[in-house]
Amino acid sequence: MKKIAKKKKYTKKYKICVVGAGHVGLVAAACFAELGHKVYCVDKDKKRITSLKKKSIPFYEPDLESLVKKGIKSKGLVFSSSLPEAITKSQVIFIAVGTPPQADGSADLTAIENVAQVIAKNLNSYKLIVGKSTVPVWTGRKIKEIIHRYKKNGNDFDVASNPEFLREGKAIYDFFYPDRIVIGVESERAENILKDIYGSVKATIIVTDINTSELIKHAANSFLATKISFINAVSRVCDLAGADVEKISLAMGLDRRIGKEFLQAGIGYGGFCFPKDVEAFAYISKKLGYDFGLLKEVKTINEQQRSNFVAKVKEHLWILKGKKIAILGLSFKPDTDDMRFAPSVDIIKTFISEGARLYLCDPQSLNEAKKIFKPSEKIKFTKDPYEAVKGCDCLCLLTEWGEFKELDLKRVKKLMQYPLIADGRNMFNKQRISKLGFEYIGIGK
Ligand code: UDX
Repeated sequence: MKKIAKKKKYTKKYKICVVGAGHVGLVAAACFAELGHKVYCVDKDKKRITSLKKKSIPFYEPDLESLVKKGIKSKGLVFSSSLPEAITKSQVIFIAVGTPPQADGSADLTAIENVAQVIAKNLNSYKLIVGKSTVPVWTGRKIKEIIHRYKKNGNDFDVASNPEFLREGKAIYDFFYPDRIVIGVESERAENILKDIYGSVKATIIVTDINTSELIKHAANSFLATKISFINAVSRVCDLAGADVEKISLAMGLDRRIGKEFLQAGIGYGGFCFPKDVEAFAYISKKLGYDFGLLKEVKTINEQQRSNFVAKVKEHLWILKGKKIAILGLSFKPDTDDMRFAPSVDIIKTFISEGARLYLCDPQSLNEAKKIFKPSEKIKFTKDPYEAVKGCDCLCLLTEWGEFKELDLKRVKKLMQYPLIADGRNMFNKQRISKLGFEYIGIGK
């Protein structure tokens, strides 16, 4: 009888250092601690670490605060601003530092190189160094070179890649229930450690080489952005042809080969990942010798969605100077306060330059918004949508927050000076809105 090999159980716990307490690092650190590992979460921003020690979370992410509090209480999660100390104490180091975009579209990898140098100088035992930030292909290779160049002893190490696929606003859920876990490794030892670390998370694990793992992340994000730009391009045709993009999305999405997610037409994608990753993927492809023209078009379509939205509002309001516009939704998507590369920012800037008076409203992003736009006679802020729409000539819906779906539209109509809704996320039903006596601008419907 054929002997069936017993499946290896991956249950070992590790001492882990997570470098970077941003959206990726802080979530990973809190979740690794929840899985039972001892985690040292380090950031060079001392203020951030001091606040985290006091259990204050630097950005809004559902359920993160309770997880951090739990980790601190159990001593499984420790915050520190001393990278050498955290490295010395750890067996595995996850690099989750920022890789911001540069003017030419390439990712700035300075922070990664700096961390690699500190690791090299503090390699007091075997360590596994894992790239978690989204990075161009060959970054793992470079990290390895840097550590070899600067290390001061014969201690061994491995480099691996483990890209994160967390969505902001759903990051904790995505960590514990991922569609897949990707690990790029060069040794069985590294593979086993990473399998141990994710031990109790039930998910398909894809094991590849490091280059492939790094490319998976760029390819996945760029494909999702392409899907969004594709449906947005279709929405433009719908506008011209008098068709309904929502029905097209529904019908397309029911084809399992296409899938219904990320087919929501609107004012385009934003956030710190898609815009940056599409550019970085196009840049690295070109550098390697392939001109990925499709990705340039994805970006162009995305930008046009914003300008086209403003043009539609102008078509209705004619002169924007002096008109009062309520902006409902500022974050790049619901359930986050993140406004990085948010479509709202470009749209608001254009309205400001045209002389409109704005009332900016968002349940979570007002603090972020005030860092970008100064409160003045012409720019006011509120959390209350009913205050925002009072006396306004147009309501622009830019983020589909749940609370906006619940709006009492009869009350809204009474409060507005002119009943025009520009729905940048196709959140409202056109027929229902029209029946209530509003003029309605949608995207491709
Ligand atoms: C994304 C990836 O989904 C995640 O796997 C990766 O780790 C980080 O980047 P995130 O940036 O948090 O996550 O946001 P996501 O939910 O993917 O949305 C990105 C943008 O696309 C948002 O601005 C959203 O409004 C927009 N979007 C999304 C659309 O315009 N239409 C859609 O159908 C879906």
